[in-house]
Amino acid sequence: MTDEKRTATLTFDDTTLELPMYSPSAGPDVIDIRRLYADGKVFTYDPGFTSTASCDSTITYIDGDKGELLYRGYPIDQLAESSHYTEVCYILLYGELPTPEQLKIFEQKITKHTMVHDQMQHLFRGFRRDAHPMAIMCGVVGALSAFYHDSTDISDPDQREIASIRMIAKVPTIAAMAYKYSVGQPFVQPRNDLDYASNFLRMCFAVPAEDYVVNPILAKAMDRIFTLHADHEQNASTSTVRLAGSSGANPFACIAAGIACLWGPAHGGANQACLEMLREIGTVDRIPEYVARAKDKSDPFRLMGFGHRVYKNFDPRAKVMKESADEVLELMGIENNETLKIAKELERIALEDEYFVSKKLYPNVDFYSGIILDAMGFPTSMFTPVFALSRTVGWISQWQEMLGDPQSKIGRPRQLYQGATSRDYVDIAKR
Ligand code: CMC
Repeated sequence: MTDEKRTATLTFDDTTLELPMYSPSAGPDVIDIRRLYADGKVFTYDPGFTSTASCDSTITYIDGDKGELLYRGYPIDQLAESSHYTEVCYILLYGELPTPEQLKIFEQKITKHTMVHDQMQHLFRGFRRDAHPMAIMCGVVGALSAFYHDSTDISDPDQREIASIRMIAKVPTIAAMAYKYSVGQPFVQPRNDLDYASNFLRMCFAVPAEDYVVNPILAKAMDRIFTLHADHEQNASTSTVRLAGSSGANPFACIAAGIACLWGPAHGGANQACLEMLREIGTVDRIPEYVARAKDKSDPFRLMGFGHRVYKNFDPRAKVMKESADEVLELMGIENNETLKIAKELERIALEDEYFVSKKLYPNVDFYSGIILDAMGFPTSMFTPVFALSRTVGWISQWQEMLGDPQSKIGRPRQLYQGATSRDYVDIAKR
């Protein structure tokens, strides 16, 4: 942190405090309020943390006004165009572009850990067949800590590294198993000669009765979806992972907590909710009805896949996703897909509408991803698991960064208490 000589003056009642200010390498300046309670006996109040930096980080940067997303400084569109997911994982985890040799070793490590303990099959069989795959993923990823005891000591950097590699490698296998279980098909073991995306597609769609040849265009689109979702700084699920990890919880438990948070429709669950909404709209002529509902304050309905806490401009991920949707649908020979037509028309109408323009509501990453995943053959219930598996590396990178940061403490927010003050208990017979 720089600029420690700059301060912000805060005056209230008879108190004046000089609060240190820092300039980040990008983004708004930060006022350090850590001594506010100790020196001023007041708290700050910021539900939803709209003005609170909970940590310092060097991993991901978003400029919401410009619509810019950088992983370790590298723009997302360049990574989506020229890199691939396992290299992006390396960049997020270790901070720099790998040399060819470093990348080869990293990919070999991931490949070596793609299988899950055989006993885990029994764990899956305990779930109902109609369980949502996110419910299964929360349980099974959390349960990894019951299988891999040798990588739960967070004070040991080697164990942290192994746990990180294990999760990046195993989460696709677990997501694919959750899918196979839900459709009553046998689990498909990972194949180490395939790249990360192709392996995942094969584990989802191969059956023992016939060969499954991975289509390279679909594999590229899958890899791009993984890349676009890999990290997104201090969003709700990442903050959940950090908060869980701040108590010293083991890494598998922390990632399970992140998966649980991601599931909500305001976050990762939006991709499922968005496709369901597009299907519900059904025909282009019904769009105005849904736009009107989204604007009506007495109606809780929101346009899913629109809006973002940080982006007040186009979500750069949505742009790449839209191009991929066109490519994939053309490849599948379904370029006249009604859902894509509705999505494009909805986007056009919303972007011209005063309500959406004035509130700076643009399509986000979830707006087009569901259309691609649907065209690939995934049921809507698998959309959020795909997001979860892509984000695992981001969660892990942020968790690793937090554990290595001497400034980090157990997360423990305070509150603006509005409840009853101390009062005497009355025996039930006397009430
Ligand atoms: N449709 C209609 N109105 C909206 C929408 C929407 N999708 N999003 C925000 N608004 C309105 C909202 O009603 C509010 O209006 P007013 O100021 O008059 O009360 C204003 O815009 C600001 O909204 P907010 O809820 O205060 O903003 P937020 O930063 O707390 O919420 C959000 C961000 C993403 C949760 C929200 O935009 C939303 O619910 N979007 C739909 C769900 C969605 O697509 N989520 C995926 C986000 S991207 C992927 C991810 O993070 O996982």
